[in-house]
Amino acid sequence: MKKSDLRPSPPEARSRREFFRAAADCAACTGAGFLLLLPMLSGRAGAQSNGGGDKPVTEPKWVDAGEVAKFPVDSVVKVERPEGAFFVTKRKNNTFFVLSAICSHESKYQVRWMEQQKVFLCLTHGALFDAEGEVKKGPAKRPLALLPVRVQNNKVQVQIGGVVPRPARKPAAAGAPS
Ligand code: FES
Repeated sequence: MKKSDLRPSPPEARSRREFFRAAADCAACTGAGFLLLLPMLSGRAGAQSNGGGDKPVTEPKWVDAGEVAKFPVDSVVKVERPEGAFFVTKRKNNTFFVLSAICSHESKYQVRWMEQQKVFLCLTHGALFDAEGEVKKGPAKRPLALLPVRVQNNKVQVQIGGVVPRPARKPAAAGAPS
């Protein structure tokens, strides 16, 4: 073994390796081929963000996400505003469901919606969240934040910096693996 093999990898090489590991994990756990991920490879892995935008959010603020008609039923639409980024889903009963785009693991990197696999993927360390934002795979332990949403004057408005409490989850049965 060469002496250079024992040296730690430079940070750039490590992050590239972590990216490919996360992408491969996602493809493996969702049963999809790695080729599905190739269009993402040209993008920045886990764009750094303070909430998806350039301006720090100091207090909850309602922002327009777009006209109601912009959101097809059952689709997941990413909206990026200077104040933050989030994903909007319109359900069949015409209600809206909004998830923060910020990964709950380190609270500064954005997740991506993987339409075919129906999961949110964080490329930074490979966390996966289901369409409701619940954790499917760590290292994240908390779900994606649910944001308050309302419709006013036919526009969908989302409260950046606000949080909708999630219903408590059923406790695991005694003796069940956690
Ligand atoms: S920041 Fe998303 S998995 Fe670590």
